[in-house]
Amino acid sequence: MTEHIKIEKSDGILSLTMARPDKKNALTNAMYGALADAMEAAETDPSVRVLLIRGEGDMFTAGNDVGEFAAMATGAFQGERHVSRFVQALAKCSRPLVAAVQGRAVGIGTTMLLHCDLVVLAENALLSTPFVNLALVPEAASSLLMPLRIGYARAYEMFALGEAVDARSAFAWGLANRVVPLDQLDAEARALASRLAKQPAGAVSTTKRLMRNPELLMAQIKAESEQFAARLKTAEAREAFVAFAERRPPDFLKLAKQPA
Ligand code: COA
Repeated sequence: MTEHIKIEKSDGILSLTMARPDKKNALTNAMYGALADAMEAAETDPSVRVLLIRGEGDMFTAGNDVGEFAAMATGAFQGERHVSRFVQALAKCSRPLVAAVQGRAVGIGTTMLLHCDLVVLAENALLSTPFVNLALVPEAASSLLMPLRIGYARAYEMFALGEAVDARSAFAWGLANRVVPLDQLDAEARALASRLAKQPAGAVSTTKRLMRNPELLMAQIKAESEQFAARLKTAEAREAFVAFAERRPPDFLKLAKQPA
């Protein structure tokens, strides 16, 4: 359990709130665990008809906790990595997933949106997937889903350069359903979730199953995870994590003469 994930259920909507605003909702292993537990339990709870994912504070989430990445790289972090369960729960979720996104959505903050069925962005939303900037690779089946959704050219630029995409572009590219003023974000996302909750649940989940292919996604997630785990241990990644901790830009060129 963690106080950094708030879970509420009302009117058929299970709302999952990332609530670590002092760290920009950076996701820790404990937070992934709480999210995964809630999503797994929702699968067998007929009173949950829709899931709503949101973040407290000025940002949706700054992505995976970079300190925990560093701890994994050095072996200091042991035990079950709940991120895998969370990503699998996203890929297998039979209920509709609605997301409400304000400010930055970094890394898994953006890749989780590819598993959401309705995405509402505040006008100030900025989506980015800077895995390569951290010397890592895309995850959560995003290496498959992102180019499918927005085309190879845009997806490659997002991944390889880590450029942030603003709300208008994200909407135009098909990453989101709505862009609304920040003060209307929660109301709009809740209104959409509420409309979905009133639809016939069987038809809603079968439609989702026909539109998405969990088996294909799981195979991609497995391939990505293997590469991700290997990249975590590289000199490139060490440099990226140390640079983040030291609040300086990484210098990958100094590694040019060393093996990657
Ligand atoms: N992991 C761990 N801590 C994080 C974090 C992350 N992903 N993102 C932010 N934080 C922490 C900061 O270290 C800082 O902690 P401190 O107050 O103890 O120093 C606090 O959250 C506030 O972050 P700050 O960088 O001051 O906020 P900002 O508004 O200037 O910038 C971001 C926000 C998201 C642009 C910036 O924090 C950032 O780039 N974070 C890393 C994002 C990332 O690379 N995620 C992994 C993607 S794969």
